[in-house]
Amino acid sequence: MPKVTYIINGEPVTVEGKEGETLLQIALDHDIVMEHACGGNGFCTTCLCKVKEGADHLSPRNDREENMGVTEDAERLGCQAQVQGDTTVEVVEY
Ligand code: FES
Repeated sequence: MPKVTYIINGEPVTVEGKEGETLLQIALDHDIVMEHACGGNGFCTTCLCKVKEGADHLSPRNDREENMGVTEDAERLGCQAQVQGDTTVEVVEY
C-alpha cells in the first residue's frame, strides 16, 4: 500500500492509500482537508498540490490538468493524480 504524506500548514501527516486512488480520495478517506470545489472533476484547481517527493510515483499528468494550466513539474491536481507509490505533497491552502 502506498504511503502518502500530506504537508498541511507545515505539518506532515502520513497515511496509506490504495494504488490507483487519487491524492484527493486518499485525503478525504483520512479526514484530511483538501478543497474540491468541482467535486473532483478537474475543473477548479482548489485541490492543487505541490509534489515534494515521489513525483514519479504519480500517474502522468492528464489533459484536465493541462487544460487548467497545471503544467509545472511540481504541481498536480489532487483529484487527477493517481498514487502508484510513496509520495509527499504539500496541500495548497485557499
Ligand atoms: S477538485 Fe476541482 S480540480 Fe480537483
